[in-house]
Amino acid sequence: MSYIERARAKADVLIKRGHALILAVESSCDETAVALVKDGRQVLANEISSQIDIHALYGGVVPEIASRMHVEALSPLYEKALASSGVSARDIDAVAVTYGPGLVGALLTGVSFAKSLAYALDVPLIAVNHIEGHVSANFIASPSLEPPFVCLVASGGHSHIVNVTRYGAYELLGHTVDDAAGEAFDKVARVLGIPYPGGPLLDSLAESGDPHAYAFPRAHTPGKYDFSFSGLKTAVINQAHNIRERGGEINAANWAASFRKAVIDTLLDKTFAALAFAGATRLALAGGVASNRLLRRESVRRAEKAGVQVFMPPASLCTDNAAMIGAAGFYRLKNGELADLSLNAEPSIKLIED
Ligand code: KG4
Ligand code: ZN
Repeated sequence: MSYIERARAKADVLIKRGHALILAVESSCDETAVALVKDGRQVLANEISSQIDIHALYGGVVPEIASRMHVEALSPLYEKALASSGVSARDIDAVAVTYGPGLVGALLTGVSFAKSLAYALDVPLIAVNHIEGHVSANFIASPSLEPPFVCLVASGGHSHIVNVTRYGAYELLGHTVDDAAGEAFDKVARVLGIPYPGGPLLDSLAESGDPHAYAFPRAHTPGKYDFSFSGLKTAVINQAHNIRERGGEINAANWAASFRKAVIDTLLDKTFAALAFAGATRLALAGGVASNRLLRRESVRRAEKAGVQVFMPPASLCTDNAAMIGAAGFYRLKNGELADLSLNAEPSIKLIED
């Protein structure tokens, strides 16, 4: 029997049993992460090694450095995950890995590691889309959450509003037509002298600022539930340069608060419009930007008003991690979707094909 035949037979047993302990690997950008997740919801280990300090020296992620650092970090993180959970390698039922979207070299390190491990342990291999991973962080944080629900996924590379109709099934309601929300945060933060990735620090700075101090534009997009952040980002950056050229000073806290409000208002206006359109009563937040404090507070306030239940992972599960990949992997496994050892990195793969 070939590897894939044996993997299918094992997956059938796991599906019948309804339980699986998944070893998950994430290496799509600048965090190397390995996790152990039971039945898609229970995290036994969640190890992360961040490269942020190194990339901050260059003002952004340097792909070649990212790949090299993933290679160094993967095996020790795997050993750490086993040691911290007390799980033995032979208890692992399946291996899940992010195969895209992301940086091709970075993805390849995780994919190669996961393929070797799945082959060595002779267990099924599951390919997970990184965005689906972000959505699935909510299954860990909220054990009672089940589809259908609408999810706002806002990260450094993506901003989508999706309708999760079943486990693993998505309808696109809206998306960014240019920059992702996190990308806009990072670029505007740079003008304020905040190092990469600027989102979290800009968020902290904004807490003490006046969100009405500066008037920043709100973009209009042709698609009802689409966003655009490029115009806002450029307007904010140009305005900062103009003020400085005239010898003026920027109040950084007010600037951060006004910009943050413009982004979060846009995200939530569109999300709540999309929720109403989809007739959904549950909203989940996901992705790095979902750890934004204003987004979290405003979602709760608006959800109460709209009679919508709102779910959000803790900040540690909003940013990149492998536990979310293990959660998504469990539902892919349940759907019988296995990968073969020919699995490749897919840097531009979408969650929903147009
Ligand atoms: O999901 P993530 O860790 O990686 C990607 O898949 O992109 O998201 C990282 C992005 C960065 O752009 C970062 O600045 C942003 O999320 N971010 C935030 C906050 N925390 C992280 N943006 C705004 N407010 C935050 N608190
Ligand atoms: Zn991410």
